Amino acid sequence: MKILTITNQKGGLGKTAVGTNIARVMADSFNKKILFLDLDVQGNASDTLEKFKCKLCATDLMSRVLKEEEIKAVVEGSQSIVLCSADDNLANTENLDKGMCSANLANNLKALGEHFDYCIIDTPPTLGNILVIALLVTGQILIPVELDSFSLLGLNKLLTTYQNINMVRSQNGMATCDLLGIVINKFVSSRKRQQELLEQLQKSAIGSLLLNDKIHTSGAIQDALSNSCSLNELRAIKGHTDKRAIDEFYALTLEILNHDTK
Ligand SMILES: Nc1ncnc2c1ncn2[C@@H]1O[C@H](COP(=O)(O)OP(=O)(O)OP(=O)(O)O)[C@@H](O)[C@H]1O
Ligand SMILES: [Mg+2]
Repeated sequence: MKILTITNQKGGLGKTAVGTNIARVMADSFNKKILFLDLDVQGNASDTLEKFKCKLCATDLMSRVLKEEEIKAVVEGSQSIVLCSADDNLANTENLDKGMCSANLANNLKALGEHFDYCIIDTPPTLGNILVIALLVTGQILIPVELDSFSLLGLNKLLTTYQNINMVRSQNGMATCDLLGIVINKFVSSRKRQQELLEQLQKSAIGSLLLNDKIHTSGAIQDALSNSCSLNELRAIKGHTDKRAIDEFYALTLEILNHDTK
């Protein structure tokens, strides 16, 4: 099982939108079995993916080693996505020992791993214990950004965090994690300022980290999130969807899957 953490310390840039849509596309179009772990106490991903919820919540995976029966109960169903939802106790995880929580989580994900293709982790918009724990266990990191100056300023901070985490991982004899890339979300191609920032970013030292596939701003993405459905399911619920958003998430997911075969 690959572990992919969606992260950005700044809020509202689309971590949850990107993470949940990628999970849906991986499951629905690529026949992958997904374990979705919501580590954000806000629980937005848990609301959106509610129908996939299993008995285990995020805190269970970090606070203790799961029993064999619990693992069996989670993997038994035929659902293509299994959600370990955010719970209120996540707020207390900030006071727990990072080393213990990350060791528990790594052990539990290892045990669950043989039953899933991907674990997708949604994270909170703060650099607290929870984000550090996720970064200590993940194999890959995906960073959604918006093309605005504040979002891009925060990016350097996040890249420093990533380097520091990999240093800690190396010092502890762990494999380092892979920065899969930066995905531009809420793109408005007609907006001159966004085009200028995109060009600056492409020419910068981190230009090579930009993924090819961007996600445009789309009302359907918001509607799908708030109606707890996929972009495809939105058509039946609302009578409309956004074909471009569907195509963009398909292309982004394919780019992520292809990255793994490189
Ligand atoms: N491509 C998009 N087009 C239109 N709206 C979007 C898009 N991506 C995200 N949104 C909307 O922007 C808001 C923030 O998105 P989202 O919740 O995914 O961000 P986040 O990074 O997870 O936020 P937080 O840091 O609070 O967890 C939501 O209302 C969501 O519906
Ligand atoms: Mg979120």
